[in-house]
Amino acid sequence: MNTLLAPSKLSDVEIKNRLIMAPMSRNRATHDGLATVLMATDYAQRASAGMIISEGIQPSVQGQGFMNSLGLHSKQQRDS
Ligand SMILES: Cc1cc2nc3c(=O)[nH]c(=O)nc-3n(C[C@H](O)[C@H](O)[C@H](O)COP(=O)(O)O)c2cc1C
Repeated sequence: MNTLLAPSKLSDVEIKNRLIMAPMSRNRATHDGLATVLMATDYAQRASAGMIISEGIQPSVQGQGFMNSLGLHSKQQRDS
């Protein structure tokens, strides 16, 4: 039996298969850490394959490790 492509469970979460995309910094947010259409497209293109662990989101200005990464410490970022 092909267990890689068979439906499975991660704790209480039903998953389509065991293909899980590791988090990868895409650097597709704006310089101010706002989400972009490019980011939505990137995830949408991969969504049918399996589970995706998204990239990191900086919780503060000091927490930013890379350029053009997503932030979640301002109202503008939250709303983007
Ligand atoms: C927030 C976050 C961002 C990451 N970004 C990248 C990345 O851009 N490129 C990359 O090769 N690995 C990135 N990694 C590490 C990968 O998720 C993965 O752990 C690494 O490629 C090693 O994979 P392996 O254990 O299957 O060899 C990131 C990890 C985290 C937590």
